[in-house]
Amino acid sequence: MSAPRTPSPLIRLSGLTRMYQEGGKPRRVLDNVDLDIYEGEFFVMLGKSGSGKSTLLNLISGIDKADGGQVRVGDTDLTALDERRLTLFRRDNIGIVFQFFNLIPTLTVLENVLMPIDLGGGNRAAGRATGMGLLERVGLADRANAFPDKLSGGEQQRVAIARALVRAPRLVLADEPTGNLDDDTGERVLKLLLELTRDAGRTLVMATHNPDIMRLADRVGRLHDGKLVVSNP
Ligand SMILES: Nc1ncnc2c1ncn2[C@@H]1O[C@H](COP(=O)(O)OP(=O)(O)O)[C@@H](O)[C@H]1O
Ligand SMILES: [Mg+2]
Repeated sequence: MSAPRTPSPLIRLSGLTRMYQEGGKPRRVLDNVDLDIYEGEFFVMLGKSGSGKSTLLNLISGIDKADGGQVRVGDTDLTALDERRLTLFRRDNIGIVFQFFNLIPTLTVLENVLMPIDLGGGNRAAGRATGMGLLERVGLADRANAFPDKLSGGEQQRVAIARALVRAPRLVLADEPTGNLDDDTGERVLKLLLELTRDAGRTLVMATHNPDIMRLADRVGRLHDGKLVVSNP
């Protein structure tokens, strides 16, 4: 009889440690954190402000560097990549949605969505079709040529979601994506994000304070004093 197959994790964090100086003393924001996240999972990261949620997401995307331990995404050890390879890896594999949208004000909505493709020298015509398709999905095709400052917060976040997905990443990271939106707008943006990620079989890791979002997760991780405790919602 063969043993049941365990799926291999998409993300594997082992012994992950990140320290910052606080009042001249080192503080372990993340202290020896181990975590596996599986393909297709919706994983929610909780913890009070300053507990290290953003730090953890930034280590998974390689925006930040660990002081110890390892971050693996798929078969790649991010901690072993130099800056250039890390940037390429992130561009090709990871979509990121931030709390404050981070759209580029001098680019139109469509140009913002196409940024990850333009950076990669991908096929611009095909990229444009994908970008317009995503703008349709988020209900903003008619705003393709508008500039971000003409859009509401919820609309800007929908553009940021389209941008995060334009290269069809296997992993999407969202750092308090509804944290800067009113409740109703936040709920609609969340629904859209889940439709385009989790319902499409993509892996989604989200930091949030919102208990309503937490209840929708497959698993929840709580950060406190540098340690991560994982449970079911
Ligand atoms: N660049 C930095 N320099 C010094 N301390 C930092 C830096 N970034 C984050 N921190 C500290 O690390 C801790 C965790 O921050 P963060 O990950 O942003 O928490 P959260 O996202 O849960 O609010 C905080 O105490 C913060 O002050
Ligand atoms: Mg944060």
